[in-house]
Amino acid sequence: MQTHKPSASKASDRPAGREGEAPSGYAGGGGDASPYKRMKAIEIRHLKKTFNEKTVLENLTLDVEEGEVFGMLGPNGAGKTTTIRTILTLLKPSEGQVKVWGHDVETQPREVRQVLGYVPQEKAVDRFLTGREHLTLVADLYHLGKTEARKRIREVLELVDLTQKADDLVNSYSGGMKKKLDIACGLIPDPKVLVLDEPTLGLDVESRIRIWEYIRRLQHAGLTTLMTTNYLDEADQLCDRIAILDRGRLVALGTPEGLKKGLGGDRVTIQFGPQQDRLEELAGSLRKELPFVNEIKVSPASHELEIRVTSNEEALAPLIQAIHQHRHPILAIQYSRPTLEDVFITYTGHKIKEDSALL
Ligand SMILES: Nc1ncnc2c1ncn2[C@@H]1O[C@H](COP(=O)(O)OP(=O)(O)OP(=O)(O)O)[C@@H](O)[C@H]1O
Ligand SMILES: [Mg+2]
Repeated sequence: MQTHKPSASKASDRPAGREGEAPSGYAGGGGDASPYKRMKAIEIRHLKKTFNEKTVLENLTLDVEEGEVFGMLGPNGAGKTTTIRTILTLLKPSEGQVKVWGHDVETQPREVRQVLGYVPQEKAVDRFLTGREHLTLVADLYHLGKTEARKRIREVLELVDLTQKADDLVNSYSGGMKKKLDIACGLIPDPKVLVLDEPTLGLDVESRIRIWEYIRRLQHAGLTTLMTTNYLDEADQLCDRIAILDRGRLVALGTPEGLKKGLGGDRVTIQFGPQQDRLEELAGSLRKELPFVNEIKVSPASHELEIRVTSNEEALAPLIQAIHQHRHPILAIQYSRPTLEDVFITYTGHKIKEDSALL
């Protein structure tokens, strides 16, 4: 199952263009209403990567659209960083093709690097420099002139809310501030596509939420973001679309909403007493009588029906009524919406946390 449009709620938040630019010049945001065709920021086709004959990426195909926040989700060792390092031209594909803003990573690495900003998984900042000294160093690496560098540094400091701390030693920064400085470094070259590898790994909840705010702010300023994460809530709340990778393979691709909906609806689990038999018969009647029932799984051993319905709110009352009419006393009811964790388990057969030493 694949859905290719950004989720409605997040798409409606989309920018009209970079600040100071006429919206008509922007081919990105606006979702379906936009008359402009969006650019493919990143195109990955049949990417395979092997290290010493061990395949760590197999037949990976996906696109990142201009203006979206795209998340690559997967447990440790899934191949997220390998994909990113290939996009960054640091690794060569063993097979397949990767293009960034239309440029091939193998034949046009210089052009690819010109449109990318990168924030690595490991902390890159040096504790014995100030934030501003750091950014100046990065600006020098990109050969920005003095005036241009000063302007850019002022802009990025403001974007990540570090202006007040710019002249303090990084030593005195909190983990969240260091990460924001990392992101600011990635923004210095004014990239079209920002690549963030695990931007909130190890941060406390409050700092993570702040980083999400900055990523959204950057999206409003017109930036395309590709990020990796193994936090399911992060992918759910922040990303327009996600790709789930498991052991080097793409196992699901879509909007968080689309992927959750694809599981067949909300889940109602009804528990009956041990004396209740004829649960198959009851399930058959409910399937016939109730149009909102998508699927019923009968577990005779635990005396349970697991019922997939289009919506819990609409289904609960008539469902209970119908079961009463069939004279099956209910012992307990549980209901829930599918989560991204359910999506992950459905497509990979295991929990993301089982494989992750970091969660
Ligand atoms: N340079 C390398 N040489 C050999 N094997 C490698 C190399 N780089 C990565 N691998 C292997 O490739 C697989 C994928 O690693 P990768 O770093 O891409 O995973 P990841 O999804 O980023 O994981 P994490 O969540 O831990 O960051 C792992 O099995 C890793 O051991
Ligand atoms: Mg990684």
